[in-house]
Order: sequence, then C-alpha cells, then structure tokens
Amino acid sequence: MSNDDCAIWASLPVPAFLIDENDNITDVNSAGEGFLNSSTKTVSGHPVWEQISVDTPIEEAFLKARQNSTPLFVNDVDVGSVNRAPLQCTMQIAPLAGREGHMILLITPRELAGRMTQSHSVKSAAQSAIGMAEMLAHEIKNPLAGITGAAQLLSMNLSADDLELTDLIVAESRRIVKLLEQVEQFGNLSPPDKKAVNIHDVLDRARRSALLGFGAHMKIIEDYDPSLPLAYGDPDQLLQVVLNLLKNASEAADPKGGTIRIHSYFEHSFRLRRSDGTGQSLPLQVEIIDDGPGLPEKIKDDIFDPFVSGRENGTGLGLALVSKIISDHDGWISVTSVPGRTVFRLSLPRVPRAAKPKE
Ligand SMILES: Nc1ncnc2c1ncn2[C@@H]1O[C@H](COP(=O)(O)OP(=O)(O)OP(=O)(O)O)[C@@H](O)[C@H]1O
Ligand SMILES: [Mg+2]
Repeated sequence: MSNDDCAIWASLPVPAFLIDENDNITDVNSAGEGFLNSSTKTVSGHPVWEQISVDTPIEEAFLKARQNSTPLFVNDVDVGSVNRAPLQCTMQIAPLAGREGHMILLITPRELAGRMTQSHSVKSAAQSAIGMAEMLAHEIKNPLAGITGAAQLLSMNLSADDLELTDLIVAESRRIVKLLEQVEQFGNLSPPDKKAVNIHDVLDRARRSALLGFGAHMKIIEDYDPSLPLAYGDPDQLLQVVLNLLKNASEAADPKGGTIRIHSYFEHSFRLRRSDGTGQSLPLQVEIIDDGPGLPEKIKDDIFDPFVSGRENGTGLGLALVSKIISDHDGWISVTSVPGRTVFRLSLPRVPRAAKPKE
C-alpha cells in the first residue's frame, strides 16, 4: 500500500478486512481490530469465517461475488467474533480491484448506522407524540379548572380532616396544570432565529444560572477552546439546551454534589450525512460531562423520546426538547454513558461565510 492508501485504510471508520483467494485474512484496519477485539498480527493468515461468525450461510454468496466480480450487500445479519457477542450488522463485500480473487469486507454495526439516522426518527416520533399531547393538554385544562374551583368551594364548609382531601385535589390539579403548560410550551417553540453566536457566552450564562439554582450543589468546570469560531444558532434556544443538560446532570448527581465539565472544541472533520444524501459540516463540539451514576439501563435507548423519564417527578420532556432544538439547528446530539462518566455531545454548524457581493 502507498502512504495515502495506508492512511485511508487506517482511518476508515468501519471495520474492514482484506481477504485472499483462499478466504484467509490478509489485513485488518484499526476499526476491524476493535471489532474483533484482536490484532492484525493475530488474525492474519487465518480463515476469515473462523474469525467472524455470521448467522446466515454467507460462504456461497461470497464465493459467487468473487467468481462474478460483483459486490454483495447483506443487511441485518448478526455478526460475531471469537472474542465478542454477535451484533446486528450490515456487510458489504467487494472484489479488490487489481488482485485476482482477493476481496474486501466491510462490516457496519447497526448501532453505527442507526446513530446516523436516528435524529429523523426521533424528530418525527417526538412531533406526533407532542402534537397529540398538546391537543390533550388544551382539552384537559378547562375541566381541571372546574374541578379545582369546585374543590375550593367545597372546602369552605369542611372539617379539618376533610379539608386535607380538598387540599390534595387542588394541589394535584395544579401539578397537572404545570405539566400541561410544559407540554404546551413545547408545542409553541418557534423556529430558531439563527445568527452568529459565541457559544462560550451561552455556556457561561447557563453555567452561572445553574450554579445559582438547580446546580448549586455541583462543581462546574469550564474547559473551553478559546479559538472556537462562532456558531450559527438561536442563542436563547441553545441556552435552553445547555440548561436542560446541566439540570439533568445535576439531578442525576449525588445530592451532596458532583462535577460537571463543559468542554468545547473544534473538530474539523465532523460531518453529518443525512438519509437524503445531503451533508453538512458540524465542526463545533460542546460536551457536557458528568461523573454521576449514568443513564438508567432501562431507558437509555429512549431518553430523547418525550415522556421518557428515569426520575420520580420527571416529565421526560427535557431531552425531547433538546433533541428538537438541536435538530431544528441542523445539528447533532449524541450520548455515551457509563457509571461515573456521562457525556452529552452537541455538534453545531459554524456561521456560513457571507455570500460574496454580486459584481
Ligand atoms: N446526565 C445524566 N445522568 C443520568 N441520567 C440522565 C442524565 N441525563 C438524563 N438522564 C436520564 O434521562 C431521563 C430523561 O431526561 P429528560 O430531561 O428528558 O427528562 P426528565 O429530566 O426526567 O424530566 P424533565 O427534564 O422534563 O423535568 C432522566 O429522567 C434521567 O433518568
Ligand atoms: Mg430533564
């Protein structure tokens, strides 16, 4: 391989394998080593189907692809290896140009593919659920006002014991009204008014307001890249996003305290490719990292859906709102979480270059 080829090979973000005419592995890129949990040296020269197990009979199709020199795509198969449990993957197999009988095999775990398209499904799921909830919110508020009023009237002639009950009716009704108002606020969200934003100003405002309120028990560390260019977004909505993330981290932490790190950095190569084929560069990265217990296992795949909450009094709207705002900004949000380290990462576009004036 030339130096360029080596660089391309090493940076391919999906597991890739080169296979010779006898079905032995001749090379594995670094993502492939990660997938196999084993080194190139260990697996080179070994039959590929001993190292990689696939839950469908693939050998024959593979042979055909080699004989006919045609690529082969296999969707949704469980692919495992000696050292790891099977994962649902898509496999792409193609003859290696210029080398008779040699093949290249790419394996894309569904996790990876899923992550790239998730924002769309999240958006539409959120929108339909929220449309429904908004309608309900509107319908429920009127009768609820009637119930509260009736309870208050009743309470005028009651003994202390019974008064407790009417107070309960009033208090619980208020709680429902508050929840409904939150749902309505969600529906009222206007499209972002995008302009050049210094994201550090937003982060600073969020940090200060967190420390004065819900995050008073937390230590919030700023870890900013001061050379970050301006972002393109709605500062108020982005503030809401950061506040929601800081609030979640503060609520997940031990009541005695915890640490949140706000990390900003530039990643030149981060691009998002959408399912419609368009792409966008999202080089500004902001991570909100906390050292709390991590996402609850039961809900960790659904946290961006509305009404999914792991907290007793949570409404589950915080992250749904975050997801909606970020997707309205054509940005991206991802999360990784293990106990002791939860990272929410926002990727945002920079301000577009001013259009050149016409000559
Ligand atoms: N940093 C975090 N650490 C641990 N768990 C988290 C973290 N962020 C979110 N979660 C989990 O994700 C759930 C969903 O969060 P989300 O903000 O959508 O709703 P909520 O906080 O429960 O309610 P709301 O924000 O509407 O008051 C939380 O209830 C919590 O279980
Ligand atoms: Mg929340």
